[in-house]
Amino acid sequence: MTDCWFDYKTVIVSGASSGIGKGLVKKLIDEHGCRVIGIARNETKMLKLVEELGAKKRYFSYFLFDVSVRENWKTFADALREQGVQPDILINNAGILPKFDKFLNYSIEDIDRAMQINFYSCVYSMNALLPMLMQSKAAGVVNIASSAALCSLAGTSVYSASKAALKSLTESIREECRGLCYVGLVCPGFTKTDIFSNQKKGNESELSEKALQMVSSSCEHMVNSIINGIWKRKSNMVFGIDARLMNDSNKLFGVLIPMLSSSVIRAAHLEMFSDVFEDTDAAPAGEPLYVQLGKYLKRLLPFSKE
Ligand SMILES: NC(=O)c1ccc[n+]([C@@H]2O[C@H](COP(=O)([O-])OP(=O)(O)OC[C@H]3O[C@@H](n4cnc5c(N)ncnc54)[C@H](OP(=O)(O)O)[C@@H]3O)[C@@H](O)[C@H]2O)c1
Repeated sequence: MTDCWFDYKTVIVSGASSGIGKGLVKKLIDEHGCRVIGIARNETKMLKLVEELGAKKRYFSYFLFDVSVRENWKTFADALREQGVQPDILINNAGILPKFDKFLNYSIEDIDRAMQINFYSCVYSMNALLPMLMQSKAAGVVNIASSAALCSLAGTSVYSASKAALKSLTESIREECRGLCYVGLVCPGFTKTDIFSNQKKGNESELSEKALQMVSSSCEHMVNSIINGIWKRKSNMVFGIDARLMNDSNKLFGVLIPMLSSSVIRAAHLEMFSDVFEDTDAAPAGEPLYVQLGKYLKRLLPFSKE
């Protein structure tokens, strides 16, 4: 086993039935001897994970519930108390990515759903579990946000807002819990998982497919980075080439990067973003990008009159 602060600890992972959550469960059990309690809704996917764990399945148990319902977290916390389980670490990983679209095309129900699953689920889970976690000498909370929390792009308004809210919440709680509980925030970039399964797919050009592949991380790579980050008790973790680029450049050129990203996405004719740009594609091109870029940079100059 490794010599790591969370070896043999009891870890709760939401969204454990697929993608990043599933990868975290396996690694925590296989390499760190943790006991993991997984949460998700789909039992078929959960049973597949149990099967894949083989002999180590005895270190895994699961609860099936919708994380966006507050009452479910209270019931879950009560069940842990009744069973005498002392959790050490909570990883809020469950999340959804609404279909890329314009803000005005989302229904209020779409927006509520994204906020409930991506943001309020973490509010409810921390509200129900933080007091219990803080009784552990190795207490930790890790919230999986997204690079979308660092830089909002066209077509991702609702997702970005839900993840930015989670980022802010996490950063405040970190200070409030300093010395009592490790609080980590993860902002992954594009990672190859099922989260994109509801996005439109068409005849993407070979070039745009290649570009997407180049900036996307494999799920295994993302999981390794997250586990290493938690091991080092990192506060803010930004993983993936695209995420780092969005983070660094957004700090320097806030407005420019979403503008530049829109131009690149439009030029690549990515089918999954086609609804986002349907009107603007037909609109007159306006000022060329280099003119807009020049104006933007000019505004950054000291003593600029604009
Ligand atoms: N993949 C990426 O490119 C990427 C990038 C940045 C951030 N992230 C974030 O990383 C996290 C994991 O994403 P992923 O890519 O691994 O996605 P994924 O493969 O689609 O997995 C999502 C997990 O969340 C669970 N889940 C979703 N809604 C739920 C609900 N209402 N109640 C309970 N469980 C629910 C799903 O389980 P059931 O279907 O069984 O309920 C599933 O286990 C998400 O928070 C996502 O926003 C992903």
